[in-house]
Amino acid sequence: MLTETGTTPPEPASARPYRPGGTVRLTDVERDMAEGGQGEAVAAAMDLLIRYGDILGAERLVETDNVCGANIFGPRHSRSYGNADPVALFSEFSLDSPTPLDVPPMRANSCQLIGPYDPVHADLQGLDGATLEEITQSERYLASLGVSLLNTCTPYQVGNVPTRGEHCAWMESSAVPYINSLLGARTNTEGRESTAAAMVTGRIPYAGLHLTENRYATHLVRIDTPVVSTFDWSVFGYFLGRHLRHEIPVIADVAGSVDPVSLKQFGAAANSSGDVEMYHIPGVTAEAVSVEHALHGRPPVEELRFTRRDYEDVIEHLNSTATGDDIQFVMIGCPHSSLSQLLEVTGLLDGRRISDSVHLWVYTPSALREVARRNGWIDIIERAGGKVWADTCPAIGQFVPPGTKRFATDSAKQVHYLPAIMGVEGRFGTTEACVRTALTGRWAA
Ligand code: F3S
Repeated sequence: MLTETGTTPPEPASARPYRPGGTVRLTDVERDMAEGGQGEAVAAAMDLLIRYGDILGAERLVETDNVCGANIFGPRHSRSYGNADPVALFSEFSLDSPTPLDVPPMRANSCQLIGPYDPVHADLQGLDGATLEEITQSERYLASLGVSLLNTCTPYQVGNVPTRGEHCAWMESSAVPYINSLLGARTNTEGRESTAAAMVTGRIPYAGLHLTENRYATHLVRIDTPVVSTFDWSVFGYFLGRHLRHEIPVIADVAGSVDPVSLKQFGAAANSSGDVEMYHIPGVTAEAVSVEHALHGRPPVEELRFTRRDYEDVIEHLNSTATGDDIQFVMIGCPHSSLSQLLEVTGLLDGRRISDSVHLWVYTPSALREVARRNGWIDIIERAGGKVWADTCPAIGQFVPPGTKRFATDSAKQVHYLPAIMGVEGRFGTTEACVRTALTGRWAA
């Protein structure tokens, strides 16, 4: 049986749901919050969480002290509002209040996920002064409330590493499977509004993957072809997502250990082609010591096999938008690159020069970019003609180099989304193939 090691939600004082027809019961403290005892912003946030929890069928809320999300000027809102006041924007779009609210300091430890721009390369993005000012104002406002501006889709790479059993409220499709599976933390895939309400109240509905009984595997996956490299894990993840929806797989036949970077790419791929928010790998992930243990002693609903044919099908599918081999843009760093991935790119570029017809842009958290700078890696990448970006990515910033018709990437997630978002064609291959492509301007898989 899986062990719940995190906070156990306190028993609600009320025996009845707070709202007629709803399901969520509240503690005395939460009732006070909902009824305005702690201010209008807290009441608005509680109203939002109760409505959300009632829809989910949650019987209560659970305390959380780890929330990631809530850009004001961010992922789904990366177009200018026209210099609107961040207080009004946060109130309306994050807390569903038509009037500006006096939001107190965030109750939960909170961080901002990836956003629309990189301050170092804002000129390349062509953002005008008014838009930059708008983004800056929104970040200042969130920071004044205690939100850490991590600005990455991989907060776990830069200091926010939740513990096993910890109840979190995180957005971001690649981060959610990582913390649920590898770390054994507990989160559903939250949204802008629920994370904002969680920041303000320190609560989130106790439903879905917060409950032990919903974390057991339902599907057994067997591997019939080698899955060893980070690229293999990306391909395998994309396969899994195409075959599963909200189900939880346990993966058998994994030989040896798996490095965290491979699992970062694996979860991102699986939660792009599908909705794989959690998986088990016995001996690797946090909550499974064996296949039987992950399945909680029950037979699997279905057994899947990952074969060589499946592997090749995924690669063919992820290259299917490309009508040629000329490449104008090479993108590496989705999800944001680890130090080891930055080092790999640095080694592949050292002493070489990319084609004048190609832009090679590598994305990483800003804290890791600073480490790479001090390590001398940025110099090497820039001498070769590449650039290292932070805080954003092409899909979220909705920006590719001018003149890009076709791009290459080592990320199944980026090649899944970017053609639809930016109207470009995509090529998908290993990191090495992508860097070799950058040297010539021709796809080199
Ligand atoms: Fe991160 Fe952007 Fe990829 S948010 S996971 S780099 S699409």
